[in-house]
Amino acid sequence: MTAQPTSDVLVLFGATGDLAYKKIFPALQAMVRRGSLDVPVVCVARERRSVDDMRRRVRASLENAGPLDPGAFDKLAGLLRYVAIDYNDARSFAELERAVGSAQRPLHYLAIPPSAFATAIEGLRAARCTANARVALEKPFGRDLASARELDRLLHDVFPESAIFRIDHYLGKEPVQNLLYFRFANSFLEPLWNRDHVSSVQITMAEQFGVEGRGHFYEETGAIRDVLQNHLLQITAILAMDGPVGQDVEAIRDEKARLLKAIEPLDPAHVVRGQYRGYRDERGVSPGSTVETFVAAQLRIDTWRWADVPFFIRAGKRMATTVTEVQVQLKRPPRDIFGENVACPDYFRFRLGPQVAIALGMRVRRPGIAPGERMVGEVKELLASEDPAREVLPYERLLGDAMRGDPSLFARQDAIEAQWRVVDPVLGDVAPIHLYEPGGWGPADAQKLVPVDCVDLLGVNGRRTS
Ligand code: BG6
Repeated sequence: MTAQPTSDVLVLFGATGDLAYKKIFPALQAMVRRGSLDVPVVCVARERRSVDDMRRRVRASLENAGPLDPGAFDKLAGLLRYVAIDYNDARSFAELERAVGSAQRPLHYLAIPPSAFATAIEGLRAARCTANARVALEKPFGRDLASARELDRLLHDVFPESAIFRIDHYLGKEPVQNLLYFRFANSFLEPLWNRDHVSSVQITMAEQFGVEGRGHFYEETGAIRDVLQNHLLQITAILAMDGPVGQDVEAIRDEKARLLKAIEPLDPAHVVRGQYRGYRDERGVSPGSTVETFVAAQLRIDTWRWADVPFFIRAGKRMATTVTEVQVQLKRPPRDIFGENVACPDYFRFRLGPQVAIALGMRVRRPGIAPGERMVGEVKELLASEDPAREVLPYERLLGDAMRGDPSLFARQDAIEAQWRVVDPVLGDVAPIHLYEPGGWGPADAQKLVPVDCVDLLGVNGRRTS
């Protein structure tokens, strides 16, 4: 990729929001520490407050995220500006024009609810802040296929494609990148990675916590729009795509999009939606809400490589534990020579968080079997794990890339449309909602989606494989 000019101001919409507090300010501190951020950061939000108030909030965010680095904080504090915006009044964006000043190539980062995107983009245009500018925006991109296309039209009215950065922060995560690396940096995997050797794939994203004050946002999204349509389908694409062709910056995104286009639209009969007991009492949630906080689904990928291999994906809040893991189960040997009738044949396991691991589970003979007794085996894992302490924060990577104009780790519109095409048939109340108790693995019906001979390393399906 030819080098692009780096953005000379970062305009952060949603600066007083939850995302900025939890993820973005720590990432900005990390960028300052690494020497990759030394341009003004214009914080934008609705409330009238002073830049000193904003600095205090940034300090609180950094203290909350980990030990504060006083030197990096002072430097970051010196870069901060603050502008209050009324999203209902395009004239209020005039102040933004002043704050952006003589910058030639701003990056406008919309860390705001999707319902505010259109006004923000219009306001930026009215305030003449869009020439040579880049825009980064948070998923979900739209509410369904039709609105995603509408949003894209709106963006393209103002920005060229090369200036649009659609953030799915999972793409900036090291273990997710490692999945891509592991698949294509090793040759031993490829001969196995298809319907001849893989019997099923399971992807689980479980969170022990609930909506944590984001009830209002969650009511607009639900688990399908919040994580299945984006994070989980992106993981599926990386896991199942073909090898990229050539070195072009678009090569990987081309293959991912091709795979996503081959996923069949979800069938409501193969989807289970759940809601944790107590969700309706959360702030911002309607007492009669039927929004799902859990979803499990069976995907089918209609390609030569994956035909007839079921992909089971599930995501939920208030689960037994917090874990994101992929399990790829290999087929049994053609004959059961040792007469064991085992529940668990070989598998690959990719732990994407909170710890990171890649493991190959295989059967080995149990030692010490007495002479004359039958051979029996057990599962052992060949384990490669990494130290998450060395992890670069996803938002540090992604914001740095957006400021440099590198699109590689961002979602592309054709892929996003393909992702909506997959989930569109199950949005809303098409599948019934099942209440589930917090602290478990979601509704019992979800377990019925998965055949009994599927490996269950987490105990998600109620028959934990030992
Ligand atoms: C966000 C979702 O995109 O991802 C949240 O909106 C979810 O609901 C979060 O909790 C999980 O991200 P991470 O990086 O904490 O695993």
